[in-house]
Order: sequence, then structure tokens, then C-alpha cells
Amino acid sequence: MQNSLFFKNVINADSIFESIGQLSDFAKTAIGCESISLFLIEEPGQITPTSYSVNMSTAVMEELQEVVIRTDYFAGEMEGTPFTLAQANGIVKASLLKSKLACLYGFHIQHGHAYGALLFAFQSPTLLTEEQLQLCKLSELHMEQSIRKIQFRKQVLKQQAYETLFNTLRVKDSFTVDHCYNVAFYSTLLGGRLGLSETELERLKLGALLHDVGKIAIPDHILRKPDRLTEAEFNVIRQHPDYGYELLKDLPGVEHVLPMVRWHHERIDGRGYPDGLSGDEIPLLVRIVSLADAFDAMTSTRVYRNSLHVHEVREQLQTHAGKQFDDKLVPIFLKILDEQMYIRKDGMRS
Ligand SMILES: [Fe+2]
Repeated sequence: MQNSLFFKNVINADSIFESIGQLSDFAKTAIGCESISLFLIEEPGQITPTSYSVNMSTAVMEELQEVVIRTDYFAGEMEGTPFTLAQANGIVKASLLKSKLACLYGFHIQHGHAYGALLFAFQSPTLLTEEQLQLCKLSELHMEQSIRKIQFRKQVLKQQAYETLFNTLRVKDSFTVDHCYNVAFYSTLLGGRLGLSETELERLKLGALLHDVGKIAIPDHILRKPDRLTEAEFNVIRQHPDYGYELLKDLPGVEHVLPMVRWHHERIDGRGYPDGLSGDEIPLLVRIVSLADAFDAMTSTRVYRNSLHVHEVREQLQTHAGKQFDDKLVPIFLKILDEQMYIRKDGMRS
């Protein structure tokens, strides 16, 4: 199994159940565990964790929940070390015996308010190799990313219609969905620095997340073409802002999002598409998304070219300031990147 491709699927899963289901199959093969489960406190004030697993009986899940609550897994104290039946006592020991489990490896999960434990359970005492531990750790990181994306999407795509469109795009082209998350991430960083109001930031997040939704209407053989596009194919791709606009325009309350969907390929110098707007005709939120969009495109690897190096990206942004991008936004964006100390080459992607 190609690990990178596999983990990409975990991150792009629709729900935590789907992610844990994919991880479960992987863990059984790669680590030899009996089961994998996730216990998560998702909201502030939630007392009993939500449990996620596949092919595990409710009775066993209840016992494991007892174990998790009564041990230090939620605090991350037992990260990566085996916890065996021999070490257990009292209720924890009873729970393990009832579950017919002899060894657990737990990994702390944390994202925002959400925290919990990802458990790998074994029926006999097991000492994982360094390589297997790395795979567990990688599973943990990917589970966290999956939770982050699912929560972010839940928070931003409050309307069912947006959620449906976004899911359609996910099925059609997971690369674009990853890109949309990244653009939302960078746009929010820049918007926050510019002191946008909460309302504007909400609009910005939604617009950034949906900016490429029109790609749903682009034929697969063009959208997924591994090689460089021909001029004719590129002209088809260029229709996506218009398609996105058409897909969204009749939804209630969408007016603040439409400009980002329709105009994110406009340029300050008026040489963009589809409407050839220039300068201040392009709203601020659109100029933010446009910059974040180009940045993520430059720092992403495509089949036919590698991502640009940091200094090349800086150069490109500076060269195109005042032409493609708002020249006031570029230095602010570059400063944010400097402050982060490194450029997240792969953004929210793994
Ligand atoms: Fe686009």
C-alpha cells in the first residue's frame, strides 16, 4: 500500500467514522493490531467522550472507554508506550479482561477544543518496532488533520447546499479540495492581519473554501490530466469561476461569497478573467483569496512540475505585485510568512 496515498484518503474522508474506518484496515495490516478506536471530547463541557470505531462491539467500546477515562491517555502521558494487562489493576484490568485485550498503545489527539486518544489494541502483549511506532504516530497526525478539516468544514459550510457542493468536489477532485482548505487557511491569516471584522472573516473563509467549486463542471479528463494542459484545455479550465458562480448564485445569502468565486482569477492590471476587472473594482476579500490561491498553487507540487523554492515564491509574488496582485497585500503576506519562520510548503496537506 502506498502510505502517502492512503493517508491522503484519510484526510479527505467525509467524516471521522470514515477516517477511522480507513485507518483501521491500515493498522490491522501494518501494525497487526486487533482494533483501532478513537475517543474524543469534541465540545467544551462534554463529559463522556464520543467513541469512533469500526467492527468493534458496543460492549468492547464501553470497556475501552472506561480504560481511557481512568488512565492518562487524554493527558498524553502514555504516548507511544505499551500498556499491558499486567500493568493494569482494578476496573481498568476488569475492562481489559472483558474486552479480551492484553495490550494498548495510545496516542494523544488534539485539535482546538477537541482532544482525546487514538488507541491501538492488541490481544496479546506486543512490543511495536520503531517503524510501527512511526506508523502509529503518522496515523495520529493524519487523524488530527482529518478532525481539523471536518471541524473547519462543519463550522464554515453551515448550509446543506454548500456542504453538498463541496462534497461533490471532494469526490471529483480531492487535490482541489486540499487546495481550497489551504487557500482558506492562508486567506484567514492575511484577513486576520488586516484587521477584518469577524463577519468579514467568516465570509472570507467561506468564499476561500468555495472559490474553486466551479471545477465540478470541468470534465475529468481535463481536470485530472497529469500533463501540462493544451491551450484549448486551459480555456475550458478558465470557465470554472463562471461555473462556480452559476452553481451558487441562487442559494440564499450567497451574495458575499459570489465575488470570490467569480473573480478570484481577476488581476489588478485588468488582464485576468472572466470579467477583466482591474484595481479597486476587485473587492478586498477577492484580492486576498487571489493572492492566497496563487501562493498555494506555487508551493504545491504538480505532476509536471515541482513546487517552487521559497525564494522563488517570494520573487514571483514581488514581481507580480501591482500587476496580478494587490501591491499593498503582498508585503503584508510575505511578512506573515516570515514570521511563521518557514513556509508551509504543503499547507494543510500532509
Ligand atoms: Fe480557481
